[in-house]
Amino acid sequence: MTAELRNVSKVFTDPRRGKGLVALKDVSLRVEEGEFLCLVGASGCGKSTTLNLLAGFEAPSQGEVTYQGERVRGPSPDRGVVFQEFSLYPWMSVLQNVMFSLQGKERQEDRAMEQLRLVGLEDFANSRPNDLSGGMRQRVAIARTLAMGPGLLLMDEPFGSLDEQTRRKLDNEVLKLWQRERKTVVFVTHNIDEALMLGTRVVLMSPSPGRIEKEWRIGLPWPRDLSSPEIVGMKAEIISRLQACPCANGAPVSMLGFDEEGT
Ligand SMILES: Nc1ncnc2c1ncn2[C@@H]1O[C@H](COP(=O)(O)OP(=O)(O)OP(=O)(O)O)[C@@H](O)[C@H]1O
Ligand SMILES: [Mg+2]
Repeated sequence: MTAELRNVSKVFTDPRRGKGLVALKDVSLRVEEGEFLCLVGASGCGKSTTLNLLAGFEAPSQGEVTYQGERVRGPSPDRGVVFQEFSLYPWMSVLQNVMFSLQGKERQEDRAMEQLRLVGLEDFANSRPNDLSGGMRQRVAIARTLAMGPGLLLMDEPFGSLDEQTRRKLDNEVLKLWQRERKTVVFVTHNIDEALMLGTRVVLMSPSPGRIEKEWRIGLPWPRDLSSPEIVGMKAEIISRLQACPCANGAPVSMLGFDEEGT
């Protein structure tokens, strides 16, 4: 077992109303060693919140988050995160951006070049992020996170802002990286096809309040055929469940017995 949320609830204070909002209610999720877990669900159902709890950016209001059996108390290089936005330093070269993750380590430049090679960008080491396409920048972001040597790779809609064709290409690259490096991946996406093409498990969350609705284990090999009966069946069920979801406006805190400030 790698990471686990045990009976986790998360309450935020809604900035518009100044009231507590239950983003997650009693969520339990075990991320197994080496799996490629895709989290899907309607906007606002708590996918990013779940990922941020695993990353240690947020603390649970109730319940426990653990990694390798230890309670998560904050971010760690063991749990690397790739965000949707291109979060590179524009004033540094591509190589320097990756080296930034290797501060204090030996052979920084060699190791950073090694990571750039893994994502096919060794020829762009001296370019600035702004001179690269969106897809290339996101590959640099992946290289920078991988350079930290995380056992768990947390990705929050990493290719959500890219065009369909580039997204598919990068999906395949991430799959190859995962197969080669044997990392554990938690991948958030609202794109059902992407989840079904990639995941060894797809977990569907539902909103108001955020919770786990259903999960599917997918034993099919890659590359997967979106028109195969198994995938078509799973997709139809996910879509019908999404359509039956209530609006993602969060849930009143009274559901959990928290007070209006969410404390
Ligand atoms: N820092 C925060 N402060 C207040 N409310 C928050 C905060 N972060 C998330 N929320 C609320 O918690 C709920 C879950 O948000 P979250 O970002 O986890 O959803 P999501 O599934 O990632 O949505 P999307 O698909 O749009 O990215 C939403 O109602 C959101 O408004
Ligand atoms: Mg999100």
